[in-house]
Amino acid sequence: MAKTFTTATAPGAFPLLGHTLQLRRGPLKFLTSLSTLGDLVEVRLGPCRAYVLCDPALTYQVLLDDRTFDKGGPFYDKGRQVLGNGLVTCSHRDHRRQRRLIQPAFQRDRVVSYSAVMGKQVMSLIESWRHGQVIDVLAEMHALTINVTARTLFAGKIDASHVALIRNSMEVITCGVTRRVMLPATVLEKLPMRANRRFEYARRSLRQLTRQLIADYRRAGVDHGDLFSVLLTAGDTNGCGLTDDEIDDQVLTLFLAAVETMATTLSWVWHLLGSHPKIQTELHTEVDTVLNGRTADHADIARLGVTGRVITESLRLWPPGWLFTRTTRSETELAGRPLPAGTTLFFSPYLLHHRADLYPDPDRFDPDRWLPENVGPLSRGAMLPFGAGARKCIGDMLGIAEASIALATIASRWQLDPISGVDVRPTTGRAVLAPRPLHMRLQQRQPLREQRRA
Ligand code: HEM
Repeated sequence: MAKTFTTATAPGAFPLLGHTLQLRRGPLKFLTSLSTLGDLVEVRLGPCRAYVLCDPALTYQVLLDDRTFDKGGPFYDKGRQVLGNGLVTCSHRDHRRQRRLIQPAFQRDRVVSYSAVMGKQVMSLIESWRHGQVIDVLAEMHALTINVTARTLFAGKIDASHVALIRNSMEVITCGVTRRVMLPATVLEKLPMRANRRFEYARRSLRQLTRQLIADYRRAGVDHGDLFSVLLTAGDTNGCGLTDDEIDDQVLTLFLAAVETMATTLSWVWHLLGSHPKIQTELHTEVDTVLNGRTADHADIARLGVTGRVITESLRLWPPGWLFTRTTRSETELAGRPLPAGTTLFFSPYLLHHRADLYPDPDRFDPDRWLPENVGPLSRGAMLPFGAGARKCIGDMLGIAEASIALATIASRWQLDPISGVDVRPTTGRAVLAPRPLHMRLQQRQPLREQRRA
């Protein structure tokens, strides 16, 4: 029998502000508190009503109907102004065409070749590490994922100076995007302030590089086996390919979508392993047995069971994408409640992943939940680190493959130990959920092969 969904109104709204303070000061606590109230919970953002989806099936229903529940509303409108009309920000009207053109870049054989880039880049990162050194884990993982994304996108033509330009530009753009999307006053963005000048310069530099690469690739006329080659040739046969402006938007979109999510996923994993030594030992045993000291490649992933479960459980506990919005394109009804066109809905993977009825003891890091014998019939929508439906992450397979290769290869050589007395907290400042501050001490490990030889 189909479930009857319940609705409720969140208590504690302040006059004029509504629930804005709760959402700003303690968003995770506030969101998880809502799931005890009902399946669809009304909140106030200032004077406006919005709804938080608290039930997995209801969330899934909304994500499957991307025509009615579209990307739009103030955040996406602003995002489009800043980032252009790429795959993340575009509305349903443009989405099908864009996704059809870009999807071939994420086919399995391509993912296998991109994964090799991760192996190489991980090795060059860890070769620079020293035993006993304290590292800023988020910064290191960020540098790694920028390198990997740049070389996956532009394998054919990229050199170290390009990567440096991309790294510097993306740092400024990522901070600027978050600030601009949150800022209501567009006029502030036009003022000749230093932050605005830096943002414009970074955006222009990245655009110039993309244009230069478009020209170089077209001149060479070969498929370099990278993402950019697919973007350039997409739809060529029927003449509806991406324009140079669209390619430019997609490049920025892919960088923004891939780098922060991957860097925070890996950072959470290190933090969780550092505070769960028993699980870390299990992981070390696995990587020593499977890899025996070599760099992991795509073919290893199927044999890296503990590695995969650690990543899945980390994505459950700390999904980098923790809060998203949708807007109703037309008048509709949800959970028996009529919603006018233009209503804002929130869905939160974090909220769903912390429901005690779906995950007993939900705050506990327990990779064994994902052992085949322990995975019960999970309801659809219960595990959404990559979203669902037509707008599901296009890089999900790539993300998992790259994270597995990075984790296994690093763990076979290094142990990352927590620094005592440091309170690592989830922060939501740069749109993704990130552990901060996360400094850890490096301890060199001897892979099994060398231990046996000694
Ligand atoms: C562990 C890493 C990642 C996580 C947790 C993640 C998470 C997500 C989520 C939750 C969405 C859906 C957002 C929504 O429904 O509003 C999404 C969309 C997207 N992601 Fe990822 N992502 C990851 C890695 C990547 C990578 C590696 C790429 C590209 C190289 C990528 C590119 C995109 C794009 C382009 C979209 C928009 C898809 C569409 O609307 O058709 N992501 N991601």
